[in-house]
Amino acid sequence: MSDLTGRAKELDAADELAAKRAEFVLDDVVYLDGNSLGALPANVPDRVADVVGRQWGALRIRSWEESGWWTAPERIGDRIAPLVGAAPGQIVVGDSTSVNVFKALVAAVRMAGEGRDEIVVDATTFPTDGYIAESAARMTGCRLRPVVPSEVASVLGDRTAAVLLNHVDYRTGRLHDLPALTAAVHAAGAYVVWDLCHSAGALPVGLDEHGVDLAVGCTYKYLNGGPGSPAYLYVRSDLQPRFDSPLPGWNSHAEPFGMRPEYEPAPGAPRGRVGTPDILSMLALEAALEVWDGVSVESVRAKSLALTDFFLECVERYVPEGAVESLTPVAHEERGSQVALRCQGADAVMKRLVERGVVGDYRAPDVLRFGFTPLYVGFADVERAARVLGELLS
Ligand SMILES: Cc1ncc(COP(=O)(O)O)c(C=O)c1O
Repeated sequence: MSDLTGRAKELDAADELAAKRAEFVLDDVVYLDGNSLGALPANVPDRVADVVGRQWGALRIRSWEESGWWTAPERIGDRIAPLVGAAPGQIVVGDSTSVNVFKALVAAVRMAGEGRDEIVVDATTFPTDGYIAESAARMTGCRLRPVVPSEVASVLGDRTAAVLLNHVDYRTGRLHDLPALTAAVHAAGAYVVWDLCHSAGALPVGLDEHGVDLAVGCTYKYLNGGPGSPAYLYVRSDLQPRFDSPLPGWNSHAEPFGMRPEYEPAPGAPRGRVGTPDILSMLALEAALEVWDGVSVESVRAKSLALTDFFLECVERYVPEGAVESLTPVAHEERGSQVALRCQGADAVMKRLVERGVVGDYRAPDVLRFGFTPLYVGFADVERAARVLGELLS
């Protein structure tokens, strides 16, 4: 037994979150792709069966009221709120992240008002955010300024309307400084929209504490909501009366069943809704969120950093020198919950890793991505993943 195998055993034995693993459906595969699609929480299948069989099958239309379908978007938003540091009443669940980026960004530009005609966007962003920012800029008559996050502060000014940023970079795993960037955007008199896809459920976000204006995120990564589970939109409570949605639908109407021809927005978080919620996915997500009972995001963050530190150490030990280069920052304050390794032939290497029971993913052109979900990844998994990678690259 190598000393790293021994260390992994000790770390697993001391892990306070280890028991959570039993709440997921897992096998002997090392699953390091929870930053793309979280594993299945074990309580979800029975819940979905109940939603389909009883709520839909037996109660049918009555379930909109009696099974709480109508209020699910806000109720589940409040369930996500503590995970991202938000008080209740500010998050609504529904639609995809892409759609919520659109709502938030256009609403931010509308809040900024006359004379502010620039949208700043992270030039290294996940592509969908960039595409939507470009379209939102065209629609609102703004100029789009793509810049790398380290240069955002230097381009802000009295023409900046809105800034769209990622909390954690999807490719490198770099964690951006949300408090400092939010403060800089506010100092310029503009509004910030944060994309939390790669941070929510992996590390503390502190939306209220840092005065974030608007935020969006998906629920199928670290929140384990399932493939295509609905995203969420955060609108800070004092901004809600000014949130002018570019997608006003009957679900965000003050009186949805009044069937009135003129639009009057609902107060509060429901103002971010659009059309009929995707109930099956939404209630699967609600069940999935129960694994967070009794878990603090701080303990998840502590384990996440320990996992990524240990992985980097194992990679250094097992992988031949020069075969990979880590793109993920070493400093804890700059690291999310994934490790990205640049590697020649990364696509083929990942395929071989998967064949050997280690699942991460590949991002073009040459990146191996490994996501560490503290609720179900253990230190022995980490050691095995690095050892197999080392064997493949030797
Ligand atoms: C940072 C980021 N933003 C947006 C998206 C797209 O989200 P959706 O497919 O829910 O629109 C993703 C998807 O992985 C993402 O990683």
